[in-house]
Amino acid sequence: MNPLRLVGTALCCVAIVFGGLTFPSDAQLDPNFYGKTCPQLQSIVSQILSKVANKDARMPASLIRLHFHDCFVQGCDASVLLNKTGTIVTEQEAGPNINSLRAAVSSVLTGGPGWLVPLGRRDSLTANQDLANTNLPGPSSTLPELKSAFANQGLTTLDLVSLSGAHSFGRSRCFLFSDRLFNFNSTGKPDPTLDPAYLKVLQKQCPQNGPGDTRVNFDPTTPDILDKNYYNNLQVKKGLLQSDQELFSTPGADTIGIVNNFANNQNAFFQNFANSMIRMGNIGVLTGKKGEIRTQCNFVNKKKKSPELDITGVTSTESIEGGVVSSI
Ligand code: HEM
Repeated sequence: MNPLRLVGTALCCVAIVFGGLTFPSDAQLDPNFYGKTCPQLQSIVSQILSKVANKDARMPASLIRLHFHDCFVQGCDASVLLNKTGTIVTEQEAGPNINSLRAAVSSVLTGGPGWLVPLGRRDSLTANQDLANTNLPGPSSTLPELKSAFANQGLTTLDLVSLSGAHSFGRSRCFLFSDRLFNFNSTGKPDPTLDPAYLKVLQKQCPQNGPGDTRVNFDPTTPDILDKNYYNNLQVKKGLLQSDQELFSTPGADTIGIVNNFANNQNAFFQNFANSMIRMGNIGVLTGKKGEIRTQCNFVNKKKKSPELDITGVTSTESIEGGVVSSI
């Protein structure tokens, strides 16, 4: 089974197991939410994700990014998973997501920290492509723009610097930063905050007018490991995106001290990364009777037979084969 099918199957199994349960309307997230109903949850998810990561080393990075893109658009409600239908304008076709999302996640599997994920969240009945286009910061965002995108979600500058550390693994396509290599801010010159040797390497990987969709490692030192090297790279002007390097190279910025702290202390980075992932993961969650538990991750449930059980008699005319977000 390919990695996406595995993840899709896992998500759908979880949905089916839990979909029939009802919860009080004032329910809160709780790391032990499934303690009685599915004590093996943690090990099931770990096993599936580790299989997935073995097949494709980039998949954990893709999953963490998927969570970010979900949370910044009407909260962490799996709205990003909803495919296009007659009534759903899918977020997957918003600018920051198109040809760019993959289903999958794990920090622990890639050397990063673990944390107790508050559970009990439910799935949205809607998606919002417009919000996906406006809420997500872009690769050329300046520091004030990044701060304001995070503040709009109730997140702090510390969250911004901590979560940007996710760019210590995964890849970016050339066209998203090639302006920095050849014609930064229409100056006809490269971005002066790029290290000259690193600039040459990147120019070779992403030649001018070359294929924009070539993928380049965010971290040239440990490309598939979640570690503090992202911050060490910023200190030596080796941030890949402008939005990365802004955290260290914006004169007088309050983010510089945080970058230096994380660059010197991996534990400090891990602790803050875990805290900020929890804070981000709590944005706009649906609990209790809000939303629903989808039987198929990428489609809203079709029918409700009973007001109590929100997944009974659910059918989708779409194929389960397409049960996860598009992948490239
Ligand atoms: C601070 C603002 C951010 C900007 C401007 C940004 C932008 C980007 C861009 C342009 C890419 C490359 C996408 C592509 O090639 O299709 C990317 C990849 C990635 N982003 Fe971000 N991002 C930000 C914050 C975050 C956050 C908060 C997380 C998670 C906590 C995250 C996790 C990732 C990961 C892991 C990848 C690599 C995905 C892969 O290889 O499949 N990013 N990001």
